[in-house]
Amino acid sequence: MYSQGLNQAETDDTADATRAARFQARIDAEDKIEPNDWMPEAYRRTLIRQISQHAHSEIVGMLPEGNWITRAPSLRRKAALLAKVQDEGGHGLYLYAAAETLGATREELVDQLLAGRAKYSSIFNYPTLTWADIGAIGWLVDGAAIMNQIPLCRCSFGPYARAMIRVCKEESFHQRQGYEIMLTLCRGTPEQKAMAQDALDRWWWPCLMMFGPPDTESQHSDTSMKWKIKRFTNDGLRQKFIDATVPQGHFLGLTFPDPELRRDEATGHWSHGPIDWEEFKRVVAGGGFCAADRLAARRKAHEEGEWVREAAAAHAAKRAAKLAASKEAA
Ligand code: 3HC
Repeated sequence: MYSQGLNQAETDDTADATRAARFQARIDAEDKIEPNDWMPEAYRRTLIRQISQHAHSEIVGMLPEGNWITRAPSLRRKAALLAKVQDEGGHGLYLYAAAETLGATREELVDQLLAGRAKYSSIFNYPTLTWADIGAIGWLVDGAAIMNQIPLCRCSFGPYARAMIRVCKEESFHQRQGYEIMLTLCRGTPEQKAMAQDALDRWWWPCLMMFGPPDTESQHSDTSMKWKIKRFTNDGLRQKFIDATVPQGHFLGLTFPDPELRRDEATGHWSHGPIDWEEFKRVVAGGGFCAADRLAARRKAHEEGEWVREAAAAHAAKRAAKLAASKEAA
């Protein structure tokens, strides 16, 4: 019996190894993996991890900007900011839907966030102190998000890649409206330009942290690159962002808060000073300046939205009952 059991275990291992090899061959051939396809449990789990955090980031990211909707300096700015914040909410819903195709329910993901057990992007723990912050967020935060999300349009997991294609179309509007705010301020009064400079000083380094820890400390990059969830490493995308953004800041007439920033004429890359990874770790661990406010706001919104969820569930149950009754009658 024992040897038969051993043989069975060996047979199972061989079958798993064969399936894993076939799966990797599909990834290497640039196949899209769909929800009903066989996938390694670790692939499914890391996608739920990343997609849920991405979704949480979109929803929590609505809060710092929403803070300025009632204080926008003109109706045009208010309308653009309203549209942007609504877009971010929609991005979150696409992403929760993509995570659900992997078997994670939206309720459990949201409960994890509300219980403080889920991550969202560190960048959304910083305060929006002036109107220029709304410009800096659009220009820098959405600019960084685009840099990170364009490669995700080629992610091996179909639902995530397709969600990203729609998201990226809207992100480019977000980035442009932010840069236009900064341009207007930089061409305005000295006080307005100083406000834009102050915003760049406060948002630049936290934006570089959005791309994740240095490659030497990234826990997931190797497998995410092997499975083509990620197409570039954290440091690779960070460098692309810096190279694209520094000339934009110089066009605005602003100075980056990094005395070591300089262009390497041979490579065309901008080298930069050290990033404060201790600050990054502290913020990711929940020590961000606005972390408690963000969670409190999300919990309050969730409680106040209970009646909407109940009404939607009652409506869905009524429709399902009506459909079942009409099927029976047919
Ligand atoms: N904030 C919070 N946590 C972060 C982080 C950040 N900026 N960067 C990395 N981490 C976490 C990771 O989640 C991981 O923790 P975990 O094991 O608990 O998940 C740990 O730090 C180690 O980092 P890794 O590099 O190993 O993790 P990843 O391979 O997942 O890379 C990532 C991190 C580049 C952020 C990747 O998860 C990713 O590309 N995510 C999808 C895009 C995304 O979330 N973008 C940012 C916010 S969305 C946004 O900006 C919306 C826009 O409209 C404004």
